[in-house]
Amino acid sequence: MSDAVIEAAARLIREGKLVAFPTETVYGLGANALEAAAVEQIFVVKGRPQTSPLIVHVSSLEMARGLVVDWPERAAALAERFWPGPLTLVLPKSPCVPDRVTAGLPTVGIRMPQHPVALDLIRAAGVPIAAPSANRFTELSPTTAAHVRRAFGDRIAMILDGGTTDVGIESTVLSLADVQPLLLRPGMVTRAQIEEAVGPVLAASGVAGRPHASPGMHPRHYSPATPLLIVDGGALPEHGHGAYLWRETPGACQQSIQMPLGAREYARQLYDTLHKLDVLGLEWIAVERPPLTVDWAGISDRLERAADRSERPNDRTSEPRS
Ligand code: TXA
Ligand code: MG
Repeated sequence: MSDAVIEAAARLIREGKLVAFPTETVYGLGANALEAAAVEQIFVVKGRPQTSPLIVHVSSLEMARGLVVDWPERAAALAERFWPGPLTLVLPKSPCVPDRVTAGLPTVGIRMPQHPVALDLIRAAGVPIAAPSANRFTELSPTTAAHVRRAFGDRIAMILDGGTTDVGIESTVLSLADVQPLLLRPGMVTRAQIEEAVGPVLAASGVAGRPHASPGMHPRHYSPATPLLIVDGGALPEHGHGAYLWRETPGACQQSIQMPLGAREYARQLYDTLHKLDVLGLEWIAVERPPLTVDWAGISDRLERAADRSERPNDRTSEPRS
């Protein structure tokens, strides 16, 4: 991407406007994290509840340290090992971070993304960038610029097109605000990898029915509009037109899509596959249950949330649709 385009986007950020940009996980909807009025726009455009805190994206360790009151040894070790990359660290915030960003919490989520366009944008803007995934509230996260365009059209100042994202699902979120590290959202940086670096990690669960450990970790995130169900042994619904995403067990279905065997490749393709199926007007999307191993925890989490939402079809009719 040319310097001129990055500079134009950086100027918009400095002027308090919204810019959608690629990260290695999903596209983000960014605003100057240090300016409450700019951040406010994110909530308006996304239709996001004010209670959901945002992740602040940085381009250097120095920038990260400016957002917190203390940079503990564990944060240093994790940043050293996983940044730039798909790991968000939650730490007690500095007063310079507006309450708007953290939904009033005393902590802030920070990550250094790995995508060169994201890093160039933050560097050129000269300020940290607050960004949730660039989708409307409760809808699927975008992994291409086209997904962002479909969700927001010209409601945002600029969309930087950095191609298809590499990781494909949202970052792992880890809180370092308490005595023991707490996994708030699983992702492709796994609990096992984090434990190798800093020792034991507690796991929170934001799954429906249980209390939300992370404010804004709504069970109904990450959902296609089409009802989604997780199936075992190729047992598909008997009625209606649907699609079946399988890895190991084929099933009798007109729209049968073979997904990759490996977790990395699977994560990379998942949202784009769901975006494509979601516009076909199907009655269901069945997904073969993924393995229960640690490298699939992020994928299982997103599928369970999507399926959980589908069990309550009455909710869906009242959701905003783009
Ligand atoms: O990969 C990602 O993380 C993408 C890209 C754009 O970086 N962003 C993303 O943002 O997924 P969003 O807003 O869709 O999800 C942010 C998650 C939520 O689960 C939220 O609860 C958690 O991060 N989070 C952010 N700040 C937090 C805080 N201070 N305490 C606890 N959880 C926090
Ligand atoms: Mg999101």
